[in-house]
Amino acid sequence: MSAQLISGVALSEQLRAEIAQRTAVLSAAGKQPGLAVILVGDDPASQVYVRNKVKACADVGFHSILEKYDAQLSEQALLERIASLNADPAIHGILVQMPLPKHIDSTRVIEAISTRKDVDGFSVLSAGELASGLPGFQPCTPYGCMKMIASTGIDLRGKHAVVIGRSNTVGKPMALMLLQANATVTICHSATADLAWHTRQADVVVAAVGRRNMLTADMVKPGAIVIDVGMNRDDAGKLCGDVDFAGVREVASHITPVPGGVGPMTITMLLMNTLEAAERLHP
Ligand code: GUN
Repeated sequence: MSAQLISGVALSEQLRAEIAQRTAVLSAAGKQPGLAVILVGDDPASQVYVRNKVKACADVGFHSILEKYDAQLSEQALLERIASLNADPAIHGILVQMPLPKHIDSTRVIEAISTRKDVDGFSVLSAGELASGLPGFQPCTPYGCMKMIASTGIDLRGKHAVVIGRSNTVGKPMALMLLQANATVTICHSATADLAWHTRQADVVVAAVGRRNMLTADMVKPGAIVIDVGMNRDDAGKLCGDVDFAGVREVASHITPVPGGVGPMTITMLLMNTLEAAERLHP
């Protein structure tokens, strides 16, 4: 049996149509949502990401600004720019693209963003809100993964979810969101003794490692939901995830493809967070 595909493209299209509708309501009342995207340096992948984010804003009717700075920009200058965006009433979300050049302390930069505009959900306060089950901004990638799981119609209550990866941006918040949805959660990582033993028990596996083919068919319980957060290149230079897609799709009940899976959802949830930031400010 071949798994059902969870298309991030199709789900994004649905969600972005809803975002565009809610945006039109706000804009008609003179409260158009606005996102500021800041890029420091000329990392080619980051250039593509920020371009996609700004284009997505235009597509749903947001106001957006893209500010690109030379890699030599001082930390102080960046902090001052964030302070002025914090005070700008036309801006509801501020996103500083990571990674930043080494001379800039990224924690200090993230913490400088107003809590009400932290649409990446990367700040210590946002992380604490998520951990405490309080409303706040949720990091976009795991938030998108939750929407993809919800789209299967399968209730997570009592299910066993295994998250592979423990980053602050994906693995840890993913585990907390699954817990919040009443799953029993295991977090596996590079020091886990027998990864396959864990993944074989899982009703849901989220792979967020950054190594291709790290999840193979023999590691997956028949009928599991498999979410692939990986963004890797194969030998031919083609984009691929962490999951051996051809093998695992024969075992899983639902699987996300790469490309066209989690990737588009990340930007969609950034739009959702920005919309919600604007709605919270103008209830
Ligand atoms: N770099 C890679 N992904 C992200 C993201 O989601 N947000 C930010 N700010 N930087 C990133």
